[in-house]
Amino acid sequence: MPLCAIVTGSSSGIGRAVAHRLAADGFALLLADVQRDPLTGGATTDELIKRAGGAGEFVAADVSSRDDCERLVALAVERYGGLHVLVNNAAIAGAHSKPFLQTNDEDWDRIMAVNLRGPYMLCQVAIKQMLSQPLRGDTRGRIVNITSQHGMVASPGHFVYAVSKGGLVQMTRQIAVEHARDGIMCNAVAPGKIVTGTPGDLSRDEASLAYVKSRTPFPRLGEPTDVASAVAFLASDAATYISGINLMVDGGWMAY
Ligand SMILES: NC(=O)c1ccc[n+]([C@@H]2O[C@H](COP(=O)([O-])OP(=O)(O)OC[C@H]3O[C@@H](n4cnc5c(N)ncnc54)[C@H](O)[C@@H]3O)[C@@H](O)[C@H]2O)c1
Repeated sequence: MPLCAIVTGSSSGIGRAVAHRLAADGFALLLADVQRDPLTGGATTDELIKRAGGAGEFVAADVSSRDDCERLVALAVERYGGLHVLVNNAAIAGAHSKPFLQTNDEDWDRIMAVNLRGPYMLCQVAIKQMLSQPLRGDTRGRIVNITSQHGMVASPGHFVYAVSKGGLVQMTRQIAVEHARDGIMCNAVAPGKIVTGTPGDLSRDEASLAYVKSRTPFPRLGEPTDVASAVAFLASDAATYISGINLMVDGGWMAY
């Protein structure tokens, strides 16, 4: 039976590329998202994976719902006998992402529910399951959280988003340290500016594009596949003795 990976927010953008790559690497994918259709249009991620000969099943799930998190992990057990990789990728910013003094309590709650409480709940449910699984090498299960360079440096005008990502970086360390002895390998990948073509893509706006280009030492901006390669490494048996890191895929943004 193939090893099972859950990727949240897998219908679009970075999550779609991560899911596609993990399926190509032989994982059976549970594709969790609030909508099946990609934000850019085109074939759904489950269709893409099936066309390429992989295993991918769409599961309508909102990561801010504990019931949905529990249903997802239960489905992994039902279909594949366990959960081996969890990628917490789903996140929102959008209209609720504002400068500090313009931020209201609803903005805070809406972003935090998805970006921070979602990974907290899904990690908790996933780890409870992983603890019941046998060791494969050093690990019973692997978690990769998708953070951001803005979990480490501020994002002007995007207060709650950046705070949520800072929280996720710390959650990664906290889980890694609390559960390393249990065989849980928890790490993060921090994308810099990745061009996704989806509505939140800053490169659609000229001023933002100029800013991210000036801020990125690499001569190009990132592609979703750049992030997918890093996630695939941390999800694979090739990643050994790596725990609590936040691997930057940012074209040098954080080295600037
Ligand atoms: N694109 C970038 O430049 C960039 C940079 C740094 C970090 N990131 C991070 O990478 C991840 C993916 O970003 P993206 O640009 O691909 O985003 P995106 O907006 O293109 O796609 C996000 C996906 O998550 C889904 N989603 C939203 N809310 C959800 C919920 N409650 N439950 C389940 N799914 C939900 C959406 O439907 C969508 O398919 C996010 O964690 C984001 O913070 C992106």
